[in-house]
Amino acid sequence: MCGIVGYIGHREAYSIVLKGLQRLEYRGYDSAGIALYDGEELNLCKTKGKVSDLKDKFEETATSTKGTVGIGHTRWATHGVPNDVNSHPHYSNSGNLVIIHNGIIENYDTLKKELIKRGYTFESDTDTEVLVNLIEDVMVNEKVKLGKAVQIALNQSVGAYAIAVFDKRKPNELVVARLGSPLAIGIGENEFFIASDASPFIEYTSNAIYLEDGEMAVVRTQKQIKVRKIHDDSLVDPYVQELQLNLEQIEKGGYEHFMLKEIYEQPNAIIDTYRGRMLVNEGIVRMAGVDDNIERLANAKRILIVACGTSWHAGLVAEYIFEDFARIPVEVEYASEFRYRNPIIYENDVVIAISQSGETADTMAAIKLAKEKGAFVFGVCNVVGSSISRESHAGAYTHAGPEIGVASTKAFTTQITVLTMIALKLAKHRGTISDSDFRYHLQELDRIPAKISKVLEANDHIKLIADKYKEAPNCLYLGRGYNFPVALEGALKLKEISYIHAEGYPAAEMKHGPIALIDEQMPVVVIATKKGHYEKVVSNIQEIKSRKGKIIGIVTEGDEAVRDLADYVIEIPETIESLTPLLTTIPLQLLSYHIAVMLGKNVDQPRNLAKSVTVE
Ligand code: F6R
Repeated sequence: MCGIVGYIGHREAYSIVLKGLQRLEYRGYDSAGIALYDGEELNLCKTKGKVSDLKDKFEETATSTKGTVGIGHTRWATHGVPNDVNSHPHYSNSGNLVIIHNGIIENYDTLKKELIKRGYTFESDTDTEVLVNLIEDVMVNEKVKLGKAVQIALNQSVGAYAIAVFDKRKPNELVVARLGSPLAIGIGENEFFIASDASPFIEYTSNAIYLEDGEMAVVRTQKQIKVRKIHDDSLVDPYVQELQLNLEQIEKGGYEHFMLKEIYEQPNAIIDTYRGRMLVNEGIVRMAGVDDNIERLANAKRILIVACGTSWHAGLVAEYIFEDFARIPVEVEYASEFRYRNPIIYENDVVIAISQSGETADTMAAIKLAKEKGAFVFGVCNVVGSSISRESHAGAYTHAGPEIGVASTKAFTTQITVLTMIALKLAKHRGTISDSDFRYHLQELDRIPAKISKVLEANDHIKLIADKYKEAPNCLYLGRGYNFPVALEGALKLKEISYIHAEGYPAAEMKHGPIALIDEQMPVVVIATKKGHYEKVVSNIQEIKSRKGKIIGIVTEGDEAVRDLADYVIEIPETIESLTPLLTTIPLQLLSYHIAVMLGKNVDQPRNLAKSVTVE
């Protein structure tokens, strides 16, 4: 969480840093700040609120927006409430150093007490202000340069960080470091860009270095970049990666919100996920990460899936798919729970970590634990080069393109697509699926993008339903089998962007408690597609109807039984049961999107949330 941006070079830094912050705002948006060096003075401005508030404040108050060095920060508060003082950048006591930080310094309290004893004072409640003063203290006491002081200070710190530090007495360099939080360095001609991801600098350079955990770099204009290990000072030869990202992918492209754009991108995103991997006519699925480790994966005694949030829901869908097709037992775990119990992991277990961002701290910690215990870790990530993708033994990217709306949409459907392909491959290898069934599944998966486009045509109808139920204080989502995780996901989408309380349940569980909630005020979204326990779900709908609940049915085209009972139905085209989540989830995304827009909520940046959760 938190986005950091920096620039050092020959261009005006202000607009680069400001635009970069806007692109990183998905990472956190409760406060923002910028520090710009104009050749003589540091102009520092920070404020509670969004980057747009920062822009207004900076342009009103700063003596100048000039300068070719600058750093900026957009915050998701951890230590200290979101206010002007706790916002970054933070000065050191002398006013010479200024820092931006994404992460948490866990031993900040001990360090702070030590520094207070030595006469340091603190304005904010943050761990970051402690770190910058620790760096200053090291510089003064050990008479070392900034780079060395940062290194020594970080070796005394426990926690996670991506930082950039600037010393106004040495205005031609920035010192950056990372551990547990991402940091990319864009490399131009005598200029460098620093950012939490590459989006702030893609129009300037397509060459980037992604620092590895435990690495730091001193970037100086006119000089080669030097990367070294923080703990032992050894020099590292950094890998300069060519970026695949383009500007169009990170802009709204005419849509009102990123979330809506990303919902509509799903047909193409899924095609991108299986393009070149699924050869329908030949009846082949080729995935390097799976092919290279086929025996390890196919002979797994058990698959453990670890993930958080929406990715965890994709994991639940995968549990059905793997068990159904590959006949391998699967357990799905919240990464945050898994990492803190003492899980039993056998050497021939395979752990699949699912993460859109590839940076989620709990998922990362879970896979580290699994590796320590000898498991083989397979990552399913969207962000190329992300920490989880690098920490895994093997993996498969979803190739969904950047997902910027905080509520996950295309990440979910592309994760299911990748996991389906993996399950089918393992099933084929293990002989638990017939050749004709295998081919049939590939053909059906290939038809899904067009079917999603068909579901998207129901947008206006879904908008009407949203209007009808937008004032409801609560909402229930029910589904069975493959569509139980979709019910959970539908409820999560509604609560996170509209702040309406919503719960997802397996339809049959309703009578064990939640049915007590049902009255004429309660909208109940029921996924009742023809395949998969249809009659049983129809009975559940009858039970809701008898208690006067309002029913919104997600049904297969041509359905009559549910139509007769429901207040509204949304149709999806027919497909095989295991693929229905790819279709049933679409109307639920649109429903929550429209309700949130109608309620005037900030759909792309819901309160209290951030896109990648890099803290515990
Ligand atoms: C919900 C949402 C979150 C994420 C969760 C995991 O819409 O976006 O629940 O799914 O924080 O994030 P990743 O997939 O990046 O590990």
